[in-house]
Amino acid sequence: MTTQQASATPDLPLDMIIFGGTGDLSFRKLLPALYMAHLHCNLPPDSRILTIGRKPWSRDEYISEFMEQKAKPFIEKKAFDASAWDKFLAIFEYVRMDVDAPEDYLRLKEASRDGVNRVFYLATSPDLFTHICDNLASAGLVDGNSRVVLEKPLGHDLASAQQINNAVGKHFDEAQIYRIDHYLGKETVQNLMVLRFGNPIFGPLWQAPYIKSVQITVAETVGVGSRAGFYDKTGALRDMVQNHLLQLLCIVAMEPPVSLDPDAVRDEKLKVLRSLRPMTPEDIARDTVRGQYTAGAVDGEAVKGYLEEDNVPAGSRAETFVALRARINNWRWANVPFFLRTGKRMQKKLSEIVIEFSDLPFSIIPSGGRTYGNRLVIQLQPEESIQLQVLAKEPGSGMHMLPVSLNLDLQQAFTERRAEAYERLLIDVIRGRLTHFMRRDELEAAWAWAEPILEGWAKSGERPRSYSAGTFGPAASTALMTRENAVWAEESQ
Ligand code: BG6
Repeated sequence: MTTQQASATPDLPLDMIIFGGTGDLSFRKLLPALYMAHLHCNLPPDSRILTIGRKPWSRDEYISEFMEQKAKPFIEKKAFDASAWDKFLAIFEYVRMDVDAPEDYLRLKEASRDGVNRVFYLATSPDLFTHICDNLASAGLVDGNSRVVLEKPLGHDLASAQQINNAVGKHFDEAQIYRIDHYLGKETVQNLMVLRFGNPIFGPLWQAPYIKSVQITVAETVGVGSRAGFYDKTGALRDMVQNHLLQLLCIVAMEPPVSLDPDAVRDEKLKVLRSLRPMTPEDIARDTVRGQYTAGAVDGEAVKGYLEEDNVPAGSRAETFVALRARINNWRWANVPFFLRTGKRMQKKLSEIVIEFSDLPFSIIPSGGRTYGNRLVIQLQPEESIQLQVLAKEPGSGMHMLPVSLNLDLQQAFTERRAEAYERLLIDVIRGRLTHFMRRDELEAAWAWAEPILEGWAKSGERPRSYSAGTFGPAASTALMTRENAVWAEESQ
């Protein structure tokens, strides 16, 4: 699949139109990110932001009820500038709409200017994407200068993702479609490409048999919070693995792209996704673990179990934790296990990638009966750091070795402001840069791999395994590693 260059005209003013303008994502992420872009002069001159919601608010009510009360607290205190905020508010318009009502789009058409670049940000449930795009097109709001941003999860399985892609594709060319995965906007995730493709020392070692295993963990301490309505239908596999974790896996595993052009990068990621070995029912039983948190304590505070959270249906089987072993069937990665793990209400917030290098074929230096290897730990959150574990001589008269770390603290190394993922990606959309967004075939390949796992779990009739909030998941997750002669990084410290 190739993506023709977008036809939007760079110097036109911008109308950013946000569907779901009164929702969670808007106040937590999108509006604070747009404020930061405005503060740092990254919005084109003469931009406007049109937010869409069902609430019967006037523009002033939207500003006072939503922008001031809900979005403003999510702006970092030290970045807040009252006069910049006032100028930012001045570019807002609120459009009350029922997105299912075609006639309401005429109101949007009146509010939006002609001769601008329109960005439609669909921060709604994916069930609405088709309708919204059809209605936008019928109202004459879509032209060659329009772009559409689709929030994840895009669909709930392969068929629904294809259906949405077909429907959106009727009105927008692939080059106008920005499928967002905010992990691709994180500084450290983008840095991973530089680490791999900018540093010649890693090139020759970045493959089997020099790498023994790869671990990718995205652990959160938060629970489901107020999102049970969405989360209970989604679960951790759809919410995190099918997109964020697989994208991280792609960046670790892909071949060097020929350039940083969108298709060059996305072609390589697609090859990885297509090389993932489909899981058979036996693989699913052996190589996947799903869990659900029960009451426990996180950061010293007692927290409820998932089933006791607000709006969670009685007896829900939604998984809040997944650990699995993935296999990549290609020359570079044959027989190298990729362990993926994510969960809510875990012991600590931690996103990291651990590259475990292979053991020495034979060691002449004693290590006190323990096997230590070289390990590269790329931490994405909460700290941004890269650590290389090497072995050094233990001081003393003998010749014993112990692991020590070469640490690169990226926050100390670069003290400049780091834009949040959403800010960076919104600027990419505005400037027409597609590299850090998913192409249709990539997204569908990710679903094609993830869907049998969901089906396998549903067929098994088993409940997710329980784990206490404040731990790193069910014991079966440790057992999954032990079977492969591996251990999760935090258990080996
Ligand atoms: C979102 C998921 O995509 O990513 C959330 O829907 C999750 O459930 C969030 O909490 C995690 O993002 P981050 O940037 O906080 O790691």
